Amino acid sequence: MVIDRSTTHEMLAQATSEEAARLRYIVELKRRLTGYSSGMKRAFDGRAAAAYEAANGKAAETREEIATAMTTDPFYQAWGSLTRTAQDLMWNTVEGTIRRDMPRMQAAAEMVGNAPAGGSLSLDPAFRAPADAFAANIHGQPGGYMRLADDQDIMAGALYESGGNAFSAGTGIGSRDSKAGAVIAWLAREYPDLRPKRILDLGCSAGGASVAYAAHFPEAEVHAVDVGPAMLRYAHFRAEHLGVRVHFHQMDAGALTFEDESFDLVVSHNLMHEVSKGMLGKIFAEARRVLKPGGVVVHQDVPVRGRDFSPFEQAMFSWQTRNNDEPFWDDFVYADVPARMREAGFGPDESRELTIPMLDGPRFWYLVVGDKRAA
Ligand SMILES: C[S@@+](CC[C@H](N)C(=O)[O-])C[C@H]1O[C@@H](n2cnc3c(N)ncnc32)[C@H](O)[C@@H]1O
Repeated sequence: MVIDRSTTHEMLAQATSEEAARLRYIVELKRRLTGYSSGMKRAFDGRAAAAYEAANGKAAETREEIATAMTTDPFYQAWGSLTRTAQDLMWNTVEGTIRRDMPRMQAAAEMVGNAPAGGSLSLDPAFRAPADAFAANIHGQPGGYMRLADDQDIMAGALYESGGNAFSAGTGIGSRDSKAGAVIAWLAREYPDLRPKRILDLGCSAGGASVAYAAHFPEAEVHAVDVGPAMLRYAHFRAEHLGVRVHFHQMDAGALTFEDESFDLVVSHNLMHEVSKGMLGKIFAEARRVLKPGGVVVHQDVPVRGRDFSPFEQAMFSWQTRNNDEPFWDDFVYADVPARMREAGFGPDESRELTIPMLDGPRFWYLVVGDKRAA
């Protein structure tokens, strides 16, 4: 079974035709704005660079200087305002749909009863999430990943899935692309004999990747951890409705309670750019600790490495940190990720970084891979 963004299920908020039309408009707006960002270089070369030099007596050369130069440019200002507004409009529309559809969604959650697919949900009322989890409402998701109203709340997970689908469509990623799907296809090429008995998904959010692994490796016991309780509750009901067995746990990926060497495959998807430097080190070390000798760790994320880009491009990427509630974006973009894997205990020949093609989108995903050789 293949599970990707086109897979629907009973927990997914169902839009009315008016809501769907509004969201289509917003997605189209986001697509156009993504395209218009190419005009930024012309704005810099044709206007902002000269204005900066006239005001400062020197050219804007570093990414910080270029970012400062651009903040005074009308094209950048208009693009930035529209882009942030489109993001807020997207969340607004998605949240409106979920609120209206919530009684049906809660009824669907209740129907799951005693987990027909055989998965489970472990929430810990005494759990104290690390400070990173409260640093921002990442990419503007209303209330953030830790949002929690009561012990039935599924809003954070519902927002993450519906918002994520709209966001991906707005960047041109197609409905076939699940990040896990791209990694699974790569694993099949690179590790054709891999038959994991136990798989761990770190920072699972609504469980999009977790269910993709569970569906692809039906013999495996799949565990998934996240810090957000309403995220995990939604993920559990979603997986059960999809008929896929996943065990969800409220747990800090930087302080796992699983035993040493207890998983054959450990993955994370788009987690690295959303945690601080300190937390990234802990997560890498924990992922390696719970990995069996002979097992493999794959951390996937956006393919944005600072060293690959000119100072101008770097300045444009740092828009995320300043304007899209991504406090740890720059930490990830400028990190020497393979070096961090070596600090976490992988030998020099046990870790590597690479990019793999999206299944259904215009770009690539970044991977850092750790092979734990048998001692
Ligand atoms: C971008 S989302 C991950 C997306 C998800 N893996 C997917 O494939 O759709 C990042 C997730 O990591 C979680 N997270 C952040 N810090 C964490 C930590 N220390 N331990 C576990 N989960 C964490 C957040 O709550 C959030 O749900």
